[in-house]
Amino acid sequence: MQKINISVAPMDGITDIALRKTLASGENFIKYTPDIIFTEFINVEALHRDIRSANRAMIKLLTTPNDEKKALSTYKELFEKYNISSSDSDSFLSSFKSAYKGKQMAQLYGKNPKLFAEATSKIIELGYDGVDINMGCPAKKIARRMEGAGLIKTPEIAIEIIDQVKNIVNSSNIGKDFTISVKTRLGFETDIAEEWLSLLDKQDLSYITLHGRTFAQGYTGNANWERIGEVRKNLQTKIIGNGDIISIEDAKEKQSQYDLFGVMIGRNYNAFIKPDRLSRLSALYYYLKNHQLLISGFFRSSDSAYASAKKVIVTFLKFLESKNNLQYNLLCAKSYEEAFKLIDQEISTVCN
Ligand SMILES: Cc1cc2nc3c(=O)[nH]c(=O)nc-3n(C[C@H](O)[C@H](O)[C@H](O)COP(=O)(O)O)c2cc1C
Repeated sequence: MQKINISVAPMDGITDIALRKTLASGENFIKYTPDIIFTEFINVEALHRDIRSANRAMIKLLTTPNDEKKALSTYKELFEKYNISSSDSDSFLSSFKSAYKGKQMAQLYGKNPKLFAEATSKIIELGYDGVDINMGCPAKKIARRMEGAGLIKTPEIAIEIIDQVKNIVNSSNIGKDFTISVKTRLGFETDIAEEWLSLLDKQDLSYITLHGRTFAQGYTGNANWERIGEVRKNLQTKIIGNGDIISIEDAKEKQSQYDLFGVMIGRNYNAFIKPDRLSRLSALYYYLKNHQLLISGFFRSSDSAYASAKKVIVTFLKFLESKNNLQYNLLCAKSYEEAFKLIDQEISTVCN
């Protein structure tokens, strides 16, 4: 039987270090530890700019790579550059311990092949397990610049990007274990998956993640898993299917039904957390602690950092009934401290 392979999708504004760390934590509240975790997409142009102006891009790259020594020196450097107080940085560094055995992938987007090569070097230095190239982002602004899904319309540039990334990886002594993958859709305006995927198939990628919709479909209708299964049959490259997965059971079923290398879960990432109340609340507490510790220093204020965590709060508490209006109160809360108090109160009502 094929190994189960379930990944967490790259999601801008969602899969930051705090969420990735939570899902990779192996804590009691975890239902299934993801086999691969992707960062949010990172713009290669932003990474190329001066480190201060590339603030957002660097936050996205914060990770818990497997090579701890390398990571620690990178973080020390980062904390100094951002003037984050030493007590914050010390508590971060002392909490730093990655027992995660899965793969950590950094996702890049853009259209300049040389900048992809430059960004890949940074990603190798940070200790990631691989680079994923975004050829599927449906944001109109990005596609208009021929980035993300726009690369489906400019296949010669898409191939040049893959080649540049490969060259850097091959010349870096990182070895065969470093993964180069692409995440894409069935097509741009129309489904041209046979043509588009057979081109990607020739590029010797570690795997391709295929979302069962075209760019034009955005998130409308249902992801077309029949098409993912059909297209996969004619390809040598391993395929990870993506779109509308609702649970770990659903992911396992789709992987086996369509004979895939793996399945990716995006919006329903709370599927990785056990569904009971205590697990959800503990996961949320753990996430917010990590958010405060690892990310808040990069925001203008701690309050604006807390506000940025609210999307994840909504997902973690989905379908969870609370007599104390927990979700509403957490969305109204202004600080991490307020949120911790509210979650503590709720946990005590669960335990009593
Ligand atoms: C808020 C949000 C942000 C996303 N950001 C990215 C991204 O940075 N890179 C990417 O390749 N896809 C991105 N996606 C798409 C997801 O990775 C995934 O392909 C899509 O949500 C379909 O999977 P799902 O139905 O399981 O959510 C994003 C999706 C959402 C909802």
